[in-house]
Amino acid sequence: MNADIHPALVGSLSASNPSVRLINFSPGPASLPKAVEREIAASFNKPGLTSLALSHRSPEFQKILDHTIASVRRVMDIPDDYAVLFTHGGGHGQFAAVPLNLCRNRSDLATYVVNGTWTQRARDEAQRYCTVQTIDGRDSAGGYTTFPELSEAHIDANSKYLYMCSNETVNGIENHRLPKLPESRRHIPLVIDASSDFTTKPIDWHGDRVGVLFACASKNIGHPGATLTVIHRDFLGPDKASPLCPGVFNYTTNVEAGNLWNTPATFNIEVIGYLMDWLEREGGVAENERRCIAKSRLIYDVIDNSGGFYGTPVPNKALRSRMNVPFNIKGGDEALTDEFLITSWDEGIIGLRTLTPFGVGDYLRASLYNAVTEEDAAFLADFMQRFASRN
Ligand SMILES: Cc1ncc(COP(=O)(O)O)c(C=O)c1O
Repeated sequence: MNADIHPALVGSLSASNPSVRLINFSPGPASLPKAVEREIAASFNKPGLTSLALSHRSPEFQKILDHTIASVRRVMDIPDDYAVLFTHGGGHGQFAAVPLNLCRNRSDLATYVVNGTWTQRARDEAQRYCTVQTIDGRDSAGGYTTFPELSEAHIDANSKYLYMCSNETVNGIENHRLPKLPESRRHIPLVIDASSDFTTKPIDWHGDRVGVLFACASKNIGHPGATLTVIHRDFLGPDKASPLCPGVFNYTTNVEAGNLWNTPATFNIEVIGYLMDWLEREGGVAENERRCIAKSRLIYDVIDNSGGFYGTPVPNKALRSRMNVPFNIKGGDEALTDEFLITSWDEGIIGLRTLTPFGVGDYLRASLYNAVTEEDAAFLADFMQRFASRN
């Protein structure tokens, strides 16, 4: 790193001085709620081995695994005809695993709604394993700022699945409820990348015909290394997956082996369990959704009432992400943006500029995952207001 560049401008997540309380608005890996961090710390002071040391085939770990799965099922109301797996390879692993499990042959067709960076990446990966039809979600200027209409003409009736991302993390576009497919296409199951919004709103598993849903752990539900994948049992069984699907990605193989076909991410699975327990204690998904609406509203209100000082790319308020709020300052003024980053960093606000695989991007982004409290969001909103009135 160039020593002359201020750490805040290259995404430093450290405090400017030790007395500053850090508030982490990073898009992920994100912080865990403080209560969950305390629970993890306490687990090291209990007698016996922690999951960092337990064999995945021991009765002690089996108990942890069963507990985490039962908690996820309760919190997200997952029906019995869905299997819950903790898969390897993160979200990217599922970009490949989905077509490899749901398409038997390369000629099998899948429809991808591409309305942001992550669906674009998922579509590009899927093209290696199946035949892809794209519903292009770009706006008239060629940017990703919206979610396209899902019309019959754009969805081949023979699609094995329709793929979408319920929250495009980089672009800040969220479906607050899953879209309904046209009546003549309702037989097509949905595949949902819920990596950055899982647990923040209810899912109507049967009503929305969810076939597969996955969420990498590193944003709302835990720590990177485990990915939660929920699969309707219709997609399990011999001869469902492509013969080329690696065992570690094969849904049927892993479900039949009780999630222990190979070594799962033991510690991370325990952390997901702590997180689910915390969510339940805090009032579950309904209360969490209320908080997400409140947190994001605080930031969007500052942007919308700033007289153009701040801008946000998604014009349709019904599609604005509650998880990731992108914003720029005076249309992207570089000097002001740098000043914003440095002065907010001095107050402990970190994670607004992060380096993604898609570059730095035109916008800063406030990510408001489960560990960010309403007070934290209010602190950022207050800083934004103070900064705007100074400038
Ligand atoms: C919506 C979405 N999908 C997929 C990914 C990629 O996940 P991973 O890095 O675990 O492969 C991310 C990461 O930010 C994401 O936000």
